[in-house]
Amino acid sequence: MSQTAAPRPRVLSGIQPDFSLHLGSYLGALRNWVRDQDRFENYFCIVDLHALTQHPDPERLRSLTLELAAMYIACGLDPERCEIFVQSHVPAHTQLCWILETLTPMGWLDRMTQFKARSQAQGRERINTGVFTYPVLQAADILLYDADFVPVGEDQRQHIELCRDLANRLNSQRGDVFKVPEALISKVGARVMGLDTPDEKMSKSIAAERAGHAVLLLDPPDVVRRKVARATTDNEPAVRNPAGAGVANLLEIYGALHEVSAAAALEVFEGKSYSVLKSAVAEAIVDALTPIQARYAGIRADEERLTSVLAESAARVHLVADATLRRVQEAVGLR
Ligand code: TYM
Repeated sequence: MSQTAAPRPRVLSGIQPDFSLHLGSYLGALRNWVRDQDRFENYFCIVDLHALTQHPDPERLRSLTLELAAMYIACGLDPERCEIFVQSHVPAHTQLCWILETLTPMGWLDRMTQFKARSQAQGRERINTGVFTYPVLQAADILLYDADFVPVGEDQRQHIELCRDLANRLNSQRGDVFKVPEALISKVGARVMGLDTPDEKMSKSIAAERAGHAVLLLDPPDVVRRKVARATTDNEPAVRNPAGAGVANLLEIYGALHEVSAAAALEVFEGKSYSVLKSAVAEAIVDALTPIQARYAGIRADEERLTSVLAESAARVHLVADATLRRVQEAVGLR
C-alpha cells in the first residue's frame, strides 16, 4: 500500500547582506539550516531591504547580496531542496509590512533591544524609521510563508516574539489568518561572543571596525589562526571549571563545531593550557571553513547560474507570498 509522506514543517529564515558572514551567524543560524534541510520545507532569504536601514553603498549592497547567496550554497544549502531568494525580489514583503505596521503599537517597537541599542548609538532624532519598523518587516518575511519555525540565533528571540504577537493580534480580530511561528534556537552556538570582547556578541558592525573581533567565513587559514591566537582570555595558567568568559566562548565555538555541549568541551580541555585550546579551536574552524571556501570559489566562478537560482526561486516563492498577501488583504477589507 502506498503511503503519502506527511508534509514537512516549514522553516523560514534570513541574513542581512550588510557585511561578510562571520562565525557567529554561521554557528547560530546557517549551519543549522544546512543540517536540518531534510527535516523541513526550506525558505531562506537574503534580506537586502533590512540591510538598507544601514545606508550601504549601492554597489556594495549588490555585491554583498550575491556574496551571501553564494555563501548559503557554499555552506551546504541545496537549491534543489531549499528556496534561496532575495527579499526585495518579492514585493509582497513590503506590501504585507505596511498592513502589519498599522497593527503594531509604537510601544512594542520601542521595547526592542536591538532598536534601543542602535538608537542610543545614533540618537533617536537622527535614526531612520526603517530601524524602528525593522521587526515588522521581519514579521512579514516570516508570516508570508506560513512558517512553522524560524531558525535563528538567540539575539532574534525578541523579534520572533513580536512576530507571534502580531500574528495572534490579527488572528484574534479577523479569524485564523496567520500561522503562528516558533523560534528555533539551538543549544550550542546560539550566542557566539566577540573574540576580542567576550562580553559582547560577535557582530558584523563591530567586525567592520575591528578585524580581531570575528572570524569571517572567507578568512584564509593563517588569518583564522592569528585571530584565534589573539582571542581575549584571562591570566589563569590553564583551562579551569568554571571557565572565564573568553575561554567559555572558545569552548562554545569548539563544542558547536564538534556538535557537543560546551560542558563536554570543557571536560576535554580542563587543566590544559590556553594555547592547546586555542590551537584546537583554530583547527576546528579551519577544517570547517576549507571546504566552504573551495565551494564558494566554484559558485562565484559561475555568476550566471547563481543569478538564475535566485530568479527561479523568487518566481516560485512569489506565488506562495502572494496567496498569503491576498488572504490578509481580504481579512482587513482591502479586497
Ligand atoms: P543578521 O544578519 O543580523 O543575523 C543573521 C543570523 O545570525 C544570527 N547571529 C548569531 N548567532 C549566534 N551568535 C552570534 N554572535 C550571532 N550573530 C548573528 C542571528 O541570530 C540571525 O539568525 N533580523 C535578522 C534577519 C531577518 C530574519 C528575517 C531572520 C530578517 N528577516 C526573518 C529570520 C526570519 C538578523 O538579525 O539578521
